[in-house]
Parts: sequence; structure tokens; C-alpha cells
Amino acid sequence: MSFTLLEKLTQQLQKRSEAGNLRSLKQQSVLKDFCSNDYLGLARNEDLENIIFEKIKTLPQPHLGATGSRLISGTHIYNLDLENYLAQLFEAEACLIFNSGYQLNSAILSTIPQKGDTILCDELIHASLREGARLSLANKFYFNHSDLEDLEKKIQKASGEVFVVIETVYSMDGDIAPIPEIKKLCKKYNAHLIVDEAHSTGLYGNKGQGYLIEKELHQDIFARIYTFGKGIGGHGACVVGSKVLINYLINFARAFIYTTALPLYSLVHIREAFEHIAQNPTLPQNLHAKISFFKNLLSDFKHDTIFLKESSSPIQILRVGGNERTKVFAQELQTLGFDIRPVLSPTVKSGEEILRICLHIFNNEDDIKYLTKNIRLIASRLSL
Ligand SMILES: Cc1ncc(COP(=O)(O)O)c(C=O)c1O
Repeated sequence: MSFTLLEKLTQQLQKRSEAGNLRSLKQQSVLKDFCSNDYLGLARNEDLENIIFEKIKTLPQPHLGATGSRLISGTHIYNLDLENYLAQLFEAEACLIFNSGYQLNSAILSTIPQKGDTILCDELIHASLREGARLSLANKFYFNHSDLEDLEKKIQKASGEVFVVIETVYSMDGDIAPIPEIKKLCKKYNAHLIVDEAHSTGLYGNKGQGYLIEKELHQDIFARIYTFGKGIGGHGACVVGSKVLINYLINFARAFIYTTALPLYSLVHIREAFEHIAQNPTLPQNLHAKISFFKNLLSDFKHDTIFLKESSSPIQILRVGGNERTKVFAQELQTLGFDIRPVLSPTVKSGEEILRICLHIFNNEDDIKYLTKNIRLIASRLSL
């Protein structure tokens, strides 16, 4: 029996639906935000908004659209200035802005490692890095999450130029990679380290320069990736590294070359958001205080199967397990007014479904108390 294309697609959707993980779009909710990546509230900061609009008026046109790709008409003078500013901020030789972290990550891995080279990725890296590895002609392998022994074994077997790909703060676990140890291994075997700082950009360092700079670990890294859609509250991403790396990407990265550049608005947002953080250094500190407050309230939380994973980042993970159970848990919290989303399989491994709770500077202590109290209550009911 043969099926039409639409019938085949419908069957796939039905399978998802039966597995309880059919995705659908929902408009931004009016519930209390415990799910967005706007950790510092900069996407909704009215002072910052006013500064950005005032600044744009002082800059040469075009203001609303970039008019073309970076290599044709899309490189505004502000763009080059911003790349220099970011290179200095991130203490690197050079910087290149991409339209999004997804584009950047898939570009860097599909462009730099060549046939015969080896890409070694942490098993928990973001889908965009996986996409880049998939598109690359190099050999690719995944090592167990933050497992140094497994990584070393895989480096020893690798051929050609070896690239190790990690995140600082993992987006689905909120934990931090053992960076000094991974750097040591890379040095020992002459491997090139690529680090995605998506969930630490803006949140660490006295000017929001991320975890690596705060801990002075940023030297001897082949490429560092910063994204601006999370802690910075805007859009876009940049990679910093050597001039050769940047020049190579300008020449060979298709996701950079063949797309319309970011509009001026997004560029000004990036710069002004970093200026705002530098002028308000207590912003990241206040966020970290909220994280400690939340963690302390759940420090003695015990349950047979549900637990809070260790994380010092604003991404706090409640491992619930099971698509249906995790969905019910999230729905109950939503009914109480909290916008908290379940992360289901296949986004995470089956049986390891989670609630991903994101903490923000604007979440107040009463809400956090009410949330943790209800996490305990719902968990105790789920164990019955
Ligand atoms: C670790 C990580 N890297 C990259 C990205 C993609 O960044 P962007 O949202 O700018 O495309 C994300 C987004 O969720 C992420 O979590």
C-alpha cells in the first residue's frame, strides 16, 4: 500500500502525539516567567530600550534592515565597530557576528574541521552544534557528558586535527563543564577546543563576559561562542578567536556568507546591553543570589525518583522522568501561575524527562518560595 507524502508526514505526527511529545506553538504566556532565557530581564528593560532607540537615531542609515549579506551591502560601519568592541571585551584577537547562535554553531563545525579530521562532542551539546557536526565531512564521536576518561580515550583514537566541543553552562542540565581539566587534555594531545558560552554570556564576569573570562580560562581556546538571545536579551551571536579563524569563516562559512545581516537595532542592542551590565555590575550578582535562594529552599528535598540536579546556574533541572508524569507536573505548576515547561523525550533521553526551571533577576522571593513549596507538594502526590 502506498501513501502520499502528506499521509506519511501525518503518520509521523501521529506517532509523536501517541508518544505524548507532539510540539505546538503557544503565544507568550501571562504566567510568571520561570522558563525564558531572559535571565537578566534585559529583553524587557525599558531604560535599555530607550537608550537603544536614542542611540540608533544618532547613527547613519539604514536603521531598519541590513539591506543585504555582510559581504555585499550588509556591513554597517557600526557592525565593524561592534566586532572590535566585542573582541576587546572578550579579550580575543578577532570577532565575527552571526545572525544567531544556531547559525554560528552549525557553521563553525561544518566549515572548519575537514575530511579526515575528528570532532569529539560532549553528548549533551546543543542541537546546533550537533547539526554542524552532522554536516561536516570530518569523523564525529560523542563522549559521555563531562567524562574526562571517556574523552581521553576518544582523543587517543582520533585522527587528523582533533576538535573538542563543549558548553560552559549546559543548556539542558545547567551544570558547568570541567574546563581546566578539558583544557589540559586538549593541550596534552594538541586538540582544538571549541566552547559555547550561550548560557553564561552576560551572567558571569564583571562586564558580563561569561564564565571563561570570569575564571580566567579563556586563553588557548580555538573558538569561543557567545550568544545574545539569552542573558543579553537580544538576538545574534559571535565567535571570537584568532584572525585566521575569523577570516576563514568570512570566506568559507555558508551560513555567514549567504544570509541577510542583522539589522542595526539588534547590533545596538548587543552593545548597549553589555554597557548596561558594566554600569550595573550587581545585575549578575542579584541573579546569583536568586539562584542560591531557590537552591536553599530545596536543599533538603527528598523523593524516591524525583530530584533536583546539581547546578549553580540559572538553569535548574528537576528530573521527573516519564513524558506523561513530567507533563502533569508542569501543568499543575502552570495552573498555579508558573510558566514552567517540561522537556520531554526525544529532546532528552527517554526516562530522563525534566522540568527546566529558569531563574531570573525579576522573579521575586515570594514567588520562588511558593514555587518550591508546590514542587514538594506535587512531587509527594506523584509518588503515590
Ligand atoms: C547552548 C546553546 N547554544 C546555541 C544556541 C542557539 O542560540 P540562538 O538562540 O542564538 O540561535 C542555544 C539556544 O537555545 C543554546 O542553548
